[in-house]
Amino acid sequence: MFQSKIAGIGHFVPEWEVTNEDLTKVMDTSNEWIVERTGIQSRRYGKRHEETTAVLGTKAAVAAIENAGIEKEEIDFIIFATLSPDYFFPGCGVLLQRELGITNTGLGALDIRNQCSGFIYALSVADQFVKTGMYKNVLVVGAEMHSMGLDFSTRGRNVSVIFGDGGGAVVVQPTENKNEGILTTHLHSDGTYAEKLAFLSPGSHAGYHQKYLDEKLDYGFSDETYGELFLNEKMLKDGLVYPQMEGPFVFKLAVQKFPEVIQEALDKTGLTTKDIDMLVPHQANLRISQFVQKKFGLNDHQVWNNIQKYGNTTAASIPIALSEAVQTGAIQKGNLVCLAAFGSGFTWGSALIRW
Ligand code: ACO
Repeated sequence: MFQSKIAGIGHFVPEWEVTNEDLTKVMDTSNEWIVERTGIQSRRYGKRHEETTAVLGTKAAVAAIENAGIEKEEIDFIIFATLSPDYFFPGCGVLLQRELGITNTGLGALDIRNQCSGFIYALSVADQFVKTGMYKNVLVVGAEMHSMGLDFSTRGRNVSVIFGDGGGAVVVQPTENKNEGILTTHLHSDGTYAEKLAFLSPGSHAGYHQKYLDEKLDYGFSDETYGELFLNEKMLKDGLVYPQMEGPFVFKLAVQKFPEVIQEALDKTGLTTKDIDMLVPHQANLRISQFVQKKFGLNDHQVWNNIQKYGNTTAASIPIALSEAVQTGAIQKGNLVCLAAFGSGFTWGSALIRW
């Protein structure tokens, strides 16, 4: 068995900056509300007709490949995590392959649909492939173009103010040095509350799931209905094409699961919170990160937060934050880095990396 390490890292955020003040022009919200509840001051939105989720991911991937000092042709597997893909299918993995200009069909491309914990799931999959010796250069990408799929009316304000666009990527390679690389990864899920944070349509539920049954919503389907099942006009009108979230419910679980899954990784490796040089939490909400920081008694310089300027970029948030921390020198060789995430599904996870 090999050990795997992050050999290259990069990120890309679009130029278009949207402040809280900008959002007050399209919905009933305020800078004070957003800053107080989430810490977010602005976010980036991709350029229409030019930037898509696959494009943002590709720009990050190009930087990561260069940083790893390899040629794109050396990539032998692509893993792409997103909840806002260019198309319902095919997934962004193959689109990224095309954007990168990789014509070699000897490699595989996999899409991961685990929302905020998507990057940790993707990294863990890469880790397994590299450890077993199956692949030598796995490209792991997390990217989102949320801004194309948010409800910018007041109806959607609890969700829309949170999300931003961007991409981050890493190249995972084997290492013979047992003192560096990915020490452990931990993945969890609980589908009980799937609809508490969800993007429901288009989809095959046809009005059949707990939320609709509870609320007695009727989308007009019978056993004989064909077509229009993925999406009909009423679903559009009711805003089911936008993410829906019971914020306080998600918040309560997040502040429980983040510490649990971090502790699990520490216990597995025999390390303690005192050993952590940098915690890079998924940027869900600054208040969640501050809660975790306080719980573990970490100093400000031991936790990387950039949600203030980028919002929640879901699967991209950890690789963007990690890339920034590495670029600025906040993470140094030999440092113990902890990644942790919680999000829709619910799914959550952690990883410990000796940089
Ligand atoms: N501007 C102004 N008022 C607002 C806004 C807004 N943007 N959004 C909601 N409100 C109002 C609500 O209507 C409500 O008003 P009411 O009391 O008159 O009914 C009030 O503010 C409070 O609303 P809550 O939803 O209870 O607000 P809360 O304090 O919980 O903050 C938030 C909302 C920021 C979403 C918080 O719940 C949160 O961060 N939850 C966790 C999010 C998260 O971690 N998600 C996981 C990752 S995302 C993923 O996986 C895709």
